[in-house]
Amino acid sequence: LTDTFALSNGVTIPKIGFGTWQIPDGPKTYDSVRTAIDTGYRHIDTARAYGNEASVGRAVRDSGIQREDIFITTKCPAEVKDPAGARHAFERSTAALDLGPVDLYLIHAPWPWNAIGSDHRAGNIEVWKVFEELYAAGSTRSIGVSNFTVADLESLTAATSVLPQVNQIRWFVGHTEPETTAYCHDKGILVEGYSPLATGRLLKNREIAAIAGKYGKSVAQVSIRYLLQKDILPLPKSTTPSRIAENADVDFELSAEDVAALDALDAGGI
Ligand code: A2P
Repeated sequence: LTDTFALSNGVTIPKIGFGTWQIPDGPKTYDSVRTAIDTGYRHIDTARAYGNEASVGRAVRDSGIQREDIFITTKCPAEVKDPAGARHAFERSTAALDLGPVDLYLIHAPWPWNAIGSDHRAGNIEVWKVFEELYAAGSTRSIGVSNFTVADLESLTAATSVLPQVNQIRWFVGHTEPETTAYCHDKGILVEGYSPLATGRLLKNREIAAIAGKYGKSVAQVSIRYLLQKDILPLPKSTTPSRIAENADVDFELSAEDVAALDALDAGGI
């Protein structure tokens, strides 16, 4: 939990983040984030769209941990594709969090959720220019994107000057996005993986369970460890204190053979 990746701009980011997608605002989010921080997590991932930024911020403020020792990510809603909207969204997020500058600000997706795959290249470039201003002003320590493909990244970076430092994508055993991952690693863009347990679907997988048995670890722990060995930053989430702790207890090494066996599940599907 104290190990870090370095972003291309030199900012360090704790290797395991606590994901808060689908955790309802209010006590559920507050208690989960407090538990995560008490357990030792120092990286919390939220978004305007999750509706829980105020509870995340309150939990961080009440934690007793220095602000600079916790890494906070939030995201500009996928629907926002214009500069004024992006500025407004950032102000709303930072006001709700009430934690000062954020550590990472992401474009939540290249397209609105009700029009997945639609072409918003021009809008993303406009929004990114606002991100570059926020970054230059120190309002956010780093900037990135989420759910971007190689084509999305290429069109954005061809027209702007600051390379995204992060691309947060759906990434788990059996769904390893090889093309996007290789591209990002080649460009020095850190890949963060959301839904590292496939929102819970991996937990019953027999192949992973067989590997987990060899190490005396759980399916969740092997699944999360797999991301780390692929240089992907996992963002597991749970509202259950014992699982929050379990998901961070991944200081073991999967053998090359077992990593290859997990790789093979990509072709087979999960
Ligand atoms: P819960 O919040 O009730 O603990 P993902 O991170 O891929 O989105 O998966 C999150 C889902 O997996 C949640 O439903 C969460 O349930 C469950 N989960 C998270 N960690 C574990 C774990 N260590 N063991 C079993 N289920 C887990």
